[in-house]
Amino acid sequence: MDLKHYLNSQRQRVEQALEQVLPAKDHHPTSLHEAMHYSVFAGGKRIRPILMMAACEAVGGDVEQVLPAACAMEMIHTYSLIHDDLPAMDDDDFRRGNPTNHKVYGEATAILAGDALLTEAFVLLSAPANTPQLKADTQREIIQLIARAAGAAGMVGGQVVDMEAEGMEQPDLATVDYIHAHKTGALILASIRAGALLGGADTEAYEALSRFGKLAGLAFQIADDILDIVGDQQELGKDIGSDQERGKATYPAVLGLSESIRRAQELHQQALKAIEPLGEAAEPLRQISAYIINRSS
Ligand code: IPE
Ligand code: IPE
Ligand code: MG
Ligand code: MG
Ligand code: MG
Repeated sequence: MDLKHYLNSQRQRVEQALEQVLPAKDHHPTSLHEAMHYSVFAGGKRIRPILMMAACEAVGGDVEQVLPAACAMEMIHTYSLIHDDLPAMDDDDFRRGNPTNHKVYGEATAILAGDALLTEAFVLLSAPANTPQLKADTQREIIQLIARAAGAAGMVGGQVVDMEAEGMEQPDLATVDYIHAHKTGALILASIRAGALLGGADTEAYEALSRFGKLAGLAFQIADDILDIVGDQQELGKDIGSDQERGKATYPAVLGLSESIRRAQELHQQALKAIEPLGEAAEPLRQISAYIINRSS
């Protein structure tokens, strides 16, 4: 399997689906819709949608059925990025290779574009027409798990602790693990779980994929922390050195750079183990797991 080709073709499917589901740019009020489009189509990796599709594939499901939920997840993720960059939060100027949303549209519109993306994601997730093959209780379960992952017990909770831990004298590993598992891990885990449910996973496969999702989610944020130090700003498309500047509680801040790299590799190995029972169908997930820790953007 050629991972580069796989990622490219899956990303294209997601782009096309996003074009279809996002309210048009010329909808009234246009300033809002333009701001939503600006960040969604700025060129993200689409790793959460791709993980959702790969999890579905790993349990023998029809990937086409996953696209609406995959788009919803990308909209939630994009909202989290717009808000994460705000002056009141990380105060960053670049995202996805472009000036951040608030730099272009102003803070108020950026906040509201984020709000709208989050809300529209649930319009999409709850539309019966998008999941004709699904039992109503499975659809409800998916909505519930994504809502939880995005909310106070998930991403938002992680972002709050991330803010509160800024400038901590010596951040401890438990705090950083909490931050990472919530601010980033939760949406990644939910993507994989939703893909598994949409693909019709049995309990055993669902649990294996959940273990994989937790490990890959933590590894993803450790890699993000590492790239903030050693990454190339151009390639990353966002500010680097931002974590150290703000005194963020990160893996490298707690464990140092080389131990963080070692941990990420260890998590990848554990993630591979978790999905061993899924056999050949989980090959894309295995390669994505390697990509998560070795990526340069
Ligand atoms: C960045 O996410 C923010 C984190 C949660 C680490 P990505 O690295 O997936 O960013 P995009 O979507 O490719 O821009
Ligand atoms: C992002 O964490 C978590 C989100 C919920 C967006 P970071 O603050 O480290 O993400 P980047 O580095 O700005 O993309
Ligand atoms: Mg942040
Ligand atoms: Mg940030
Ligand atoms: Mg970061």
